[in-house]
Amino acid sequence: MSTSPTRSSVSATDSAADRAADSATYSAARTLPHWETTPADLPGAIREVKAAIRARIAASGRSVEEVFAVVEQRVAERVAEIRADRERGKSVWPVIDYADIENGTVSAEQLAKLRRRGCLVVRGHFPREQALAWDAGIVDYVEGNGFFESYRGPGDDFFGSVGSKPEIYPIYWSAAQMEARQSERMATVQALLNAQWKHESEGVTWFDPRRDSLYPDRIRRRPPGADSSGLGAHCDPGTLDLWMTEAYQQAFRHLFDGSVEEYDPWDAAHRTAGPQYPGTTMCSAFRTFQGWTALSDMDHDQGVLHTVPIPEAMAYLMLRPLLDDVADDDMCGVTTNQVFPASEKWHPLLLEALSGIPDVRAGDSVWWHCDMIHSVAPVQDQQGWGNVMYIPAAPWCERNERYAADVREAFLSGSSPSDFPEEHYERSWPDRFTAEQLNTTGRRGLGLD
Ligand SMILES: [Fe+2]
Repeated sequence: MSTSPTRSSVSATDSAADRAADSATYSAARTLPHWETTPADLPGAIREVKAAIRARIAASGRSVEEVFAVVEQRVAERVAEIRADRERGKSVWPVIDYADIENGTVSAEQLAKLRRRGCLVVRGHFPREQALAWDAGIVDYVEGNGFFESYRGPGDDFFGSVGSKPEIYPIYWSAAQMEARQSERMATVQALLNAQWKHESEGVTWFDPRRDSLYPDRIRRRPPGADSSGLGAHCDPGTLDLWMTEAYQQAFRHLFDGSVEEYDPWDAAHRTAGPQYPGTTMCSAFRTFQGWTALSDMDHDQGVLHTVPIPEAMAYLMLRPLLDDVADDDMCGVTTNQVFPASEKWHPLLLEALSGIPDVRAGDSVWWHCDMIHSVAPVQDQQGWGNVMYIPAAPWCERNERYAADVREAFLSGSSPSDFPEEHYERSWPDRFTAEQLNTTGRRGLGLD
């Protein structure tokens, strides 16, 4: 593999250098303080890194307020477009038929909408009967292995629980999940999604868009009649590490050096090798898109996924804490070991754009850019099932290759993957998916070939 990111910082600050009239100021602003593991004194580290980022932006000759205003303006235009679509009854979410992806007949207009909105519904990603058979297969798998009798309650409190049966099944190695993860249809869609990102720059191949790392995740099965309070608006790519590790500081260099117009939410540079601060809701993998495949039909008003479909909103989230009305030791509520919140207090403009998926059918899949804010709407007395398999696009890169070693071990022993609570329900289940059942995609994804 040619994924060997280098830590060359030569080009990372050139634009700041060009702008900086005063070379002394420039050298002071060149290096941001960074913490490659969670800092012991979080408020102290927040104060220090915020002051350093402000100084670096100032060294470009612009103020933090000016830079933020540029981002706010750009985001406000997107919010207005989304409102207009909504008022005209147009779907905010792009929808593409799987057949068009397979045949290479996706239009330029559809691709432009995918990049503008950063999210997608793939219609008919799998035949509906296939998805319903997978759903039934999962039921057989968990019931046949006495899962509900042995279930010990949620291993984390991220999704909460409803009643005695879980909504989120901490199950990773069913035939249904593995067949979907290693399927040709999944690889075809992941390749299209990965191709929206810039994966080569600065002489580095940051990831391989045509090889996925089969990131194992759980299943949700929410039964008819369920009441659920949903999930608040948040994003998943990291927490304080987004401001504090060297790799992320380089990934977000244009936000931190006054050249905000050059920030590209689709640039993978410096995102596919660096560390992440540990936490109970962490994701060790680099994902271009998060996603799930529907295993039941779901109407748009039955407690479904929403996103803020604006990839550039990440710039807003990253710069907002630098404004004067936020305390020096506060990152707008972001802290380690908790999800990154988006709130009415700090991000009201962004939340105006929160948009739910359209009705989906079993076999459709749903995708959103890995940095984007998302939430799950509450529901009372849910009509029909709400069943999904979480399968993201996690292309092969240094970071995912490292995590694949853990995944291989978990797969072979039937354990919970190391990103998740140590529940290990499947270790003794005889009918879990085996190494002999892997195809070429599956073997490559687990790093076995
Ligand atoms: Fe999330």
